[in-house]
Amino acid sequence: MKIALGSDHVGYDLKKEIEKHLHAMSIETVDFGTDSHERTDYPIYGEAVGNAVAKGECDKGILICGTGVGIGLAANKVNGIRAVTCSEPYSALLSRQHNDTNVLSMGARVVGLDLALMIVDTWLSGEYEGGRHAKRVQMLADIEKKQN
Ligand code: RB5
Repeated sequence: MKIALGSDHVGYDLKKEIEKHLHAMSIETVDFGTDSHERTDYPIYGEAVGNAVAKGECDKGILICGTGVGIGLAANKVNGIRAVTCSEPYSALLSRQHNDTNVLSMGARVVGLDLALMIVDTWLSGEYEGGRHAKRVQMLADIEKKQN
């Protein structure tokens, strides 16, 4: 399992804590930036992580900005990405089971460290159920095809 990580300046510290947490579980990560607290723009990192996951270079992605919203929106602009912005574990789990989400975004100004790690663990533990959900996930891909 290889996880792509990305954040803007607001999400930098939480991203690094998540990186440590994943490494402690022997999960490999690739950090697509940013690398400091210097002000930057979240779309850069949402796109980079989205591309890495869409191309299969990484299995899943985790993104952090102030709210998790902007960086998640950026990732969702990449074809093949189903990013969920979460501040609680229930949606994180169901987003894996029903929507086969491949990117998780969270807000460093929204969740504390313990809650963020719980959401990460819950999201990673969730298995896509397919079945009745497969048709709907395919419909999401069909929307992308109509746009291109
Ligand atoms: C940066 O101030 C902030 O807008 C960004 O981190 C994020 O919350 C955007 O969605």
